[in-house]
Amino acid sequence: MESVIFSGNSNPLLALQISKLLDKTLGKVEIIRFADSECRVRIEEEVEGKDVFIIQSLVNPVDENLMELLLMGDAVKRGEPRKLVAVLPYHGYARQDRMHRPGECLSAQVVARLIEAAGFDKLITLELHNEAIIGFFKIPVIHLSGLSVFRPMVEKMKKDVVIITPDAGALKRSQQFSEGLDLPLAFIEKKRDLDQTHKILSMRVVGEVKDKIAVIVDDVIVTGGTLVNAAHLLKQKGAKQVIAMATHADFVGGADKILQESPVDKIWVTDTIQVPPELQFPKLSIFPIASIIASTIQKMVK
Ligand code: R5P
Repeated sequence: MESVIFSGNSNPLLALQISKLLDKTLGKVEIIRFADSECRVRIEEEVEGKDVFIIQSLVNPVDENLMELLLMGDAVKRGEPRKLVAVLPYHGYARQDRMHRPGECLSAQVVARLIEAAGFDKLITLELHNEAIIGFFKIPVIHLSGLSVFRPMVEKMKKDVVIITPDAGALKRSQQFSEGLDLPLAFIEKKRDLDQTHKILSMRVVGEVKDKIAVIVDDVIVTGGTLVNAAHLLKQKGAKQVIAMATHADFVGGADKILQESPVDKIWVTDTIQVPPELQFPKLSIFPIASIIASTIQKMVK
């Protein structure tokens, strides 16, 4: 089946890597802004009867990137493709997957509706904050994990490793990772201040970490607060080394400094989100994710 891959502006490098692995060139698209910042999109490829993939991470600036995705979707749909697939290496708005306090919006559901309304037939995404978000979609969702790219590194140092769940929401993910490698699991109980964004009130470790290499498994790093607090606690409890792995690095300014100066010894992320050079730091390693996404697309267009 003939296919076309388009890239939004959120992570063009990743889109290019994916298209190269698929032996294709990226489809031509014009994305410009009116003087008042409104986005204007024009697809410059023939898409009729083809399978079309639009690659866009819903990363900061999230609203801009979301709108770009929706408008690209609409532009393609008008060209009557056989199938239109949204490829979101990072799915933003995912942490608002339930009403944490009375009166709140259910952002993850609103975004799911918008993606469907724009005409997408299918979604491919990675390491959702909470898998339950899939239930907000009527279209099929392929949910991939990026954690397998770190597995060989953990396998190499398997002795003395304990996998750490950094909060209740991350349990299933870290459980699967630890079971896959037959490693023990410890748990951090994290309480957040629901009236303030990114504020942690308390943390407590449940499980044995003394003289162990503690490997924290998370979906995303934003301010770095979760990791820094967890690393302090794990070292206090006798962990000899703390390594943090997360599929998405949605760093905000300042995260680079606090992570580099923290007791976390190594931080491993993938490139679902492009980390600009000014936010990279010596403890950080970035693992390529393109092959996981490319092989999924490959299977669909065969
Ligand atoms: C928590 O709910 C998430 O899984 C991450 O642990 C969290 O979003 C990371 O954010 P930050 O780096 O700001 O603590």
